[in-house]
Amino acid sequence: MATKEFPLTPQPVSPIETAHRRIATAIPVPESIPTLTRLRELEPRSMGGQPPILWHHGEGATICDPYGNRWIDFSSGVLVTACGHGHPEIVGAIRGMAGQGMYHAYCFPTQIRLKLIEAIQAVLPPPLARVFLLTTGSEAVECCIKLARTRGMALGGPRKSVLVTFSHAFHGRTLGAQLAGGIPALKTWIGDLDPRFVQVPFPDGFRQKDVSFAVFEQRLTELGVAPKDVCGVMSETFQGCNATLMPAEYAQALRRWCDAHGAVLIFDEVQAAFGRAGKWFGFQHLGVTPDLAACGKGISGGMPLAAVVGTEELMNLYGPGEMTSTHSANPICAAAALANLQVIHKHGLVDHAARIGPLLAEGVAAVARAAKGRIGAWNAVGLVAALQYTRPGTADPDPEPAWEFVRRAYERGVMLFAPVGVGGCAVKICPPLVIQEDMLREGLGVLEQIAAEII
Ligand SMILES: Cc1ncc(COP(=O)(O)O)c(C=O)c1O
Repeated sequence: MATKEFPLTPQPVSPIETAHRRIATAIPVPESIPTLTRLRELEPRSMGGQPPILWHHGEGATICDPYGNRWIDFSSGVLVTACGHGHPEIVGAIRGMAGQGMYHAYCFPTQIRLKLIEAIQAVLPPPLARVFLLTTGSEAVECCIKLARTRGMALGGPRKSVLVTFSHAFHGRTLGAQLAGGIPALKTWIGDLDPRFVQVPFPDGFRQKDVSFAVFEQRLTELGVAPKDVCGVMSETFQGCNATLMPAEYAQALRRWCDAHGAVLIFDEVQAAFGRAGKWFGFQHLGVTPDLAACGKGISGGMPLAAVVGTEELMNLYGPGEMTSTHSANPICAAAALANLQVIHKHGLVDHAARIGPLLAEGVAAVARAAKGRIGAWNAVGLVAALQYTRPGTADPDPEPAWEFVRRAYERGVMLFAPVGVGGCAVKICPPLVIQEDMLREGLGVLEQIAAEII
């Protein structure tokens, strides 16, 4: 994630006025500096690092500041606003529930909770059957870890508690999620690591060239992990840092391996689910169904809501009152999430992402070509792409040009979040699923120009 700040000194930029973008001031906008400075003074430094643009409102796949500037949004916040910003049906659902006077219900039953659960359940492939609503992606991931370990230890005793995850994986920032993550730099604060969390190479075809499943088994042997001690294996369906799907053959071999050794297969679908990858769930690209999936981000239309979906057996491991969360199914968030799913259905946004995805893939290939070797890897699936700046001829991350790329993009009316991934070298492109072809082409054209400049 971001490790530095973009400068707060306003730069004069050439005015831009197109059908979708408008930049009419210096950037950052001089009038915004007091607010941006005050945030830097009062919050932990960790809250910084994003483009110094004051977000005010949005419309569809564009985002606006209070000063008349407008950006094509290639961030969706952080892969959240699937239906775009300010969608009238989501706004209406939030207003409606607020007007009903129901802001919070803990685990007391509500109609909206049932409606949302039914809507999620309706798109689950069997044997996924039950839905548990939570608030954040990290919380959903932690819940999956807990269920896998609970089941493992019930079946095989205390030793059957090893969770296998993947190098470069990101699963969130809470303790369990970071133990499961595959980025060593994020774990230094933990001190002694729990030996029951182990990582194997993710078959991305770039940093891990051998994408065969043999590598998985071989690495477990090297780590001294007996398959019978593994309670679960968890992976992002596509890795956030590189937008690369787990290869289908690998995933199918992993499914068989989990079945053979009594391990739970978990996909972290916090980024992938609800259309982002051009399917309802990213794992539908892989020809396998996990036992548990953690969902978040695009599930809710922007409100804080997450979910674990799972099999009957796993989801019933805990009894009444034993697995809960204060804001589970918050009624306003649930109303927004239900409207979000209805909009996705009504406007065929999953198919739209699948249809328009190849345009994004071609666009990022053109951006990479324009960068003349500075971008070592690029991938796209559905409406998410990642471009990794690397030192020429190597897989070593090169974050400087990635930061410069993002800075030039927001100065020219294309909103990206700060570089992420290995060494902070990856520029992500992830517009709202409602984006139309002309806007996608316009934004990609700007990025191609920028890539050609940074060589
Ligand atoms: C794949 C993945 N899992 C989990 C998380 C954590 O979600 P949250 O930030 O909502 O806790 C993220 C967040 O970026 C993510 O990308």
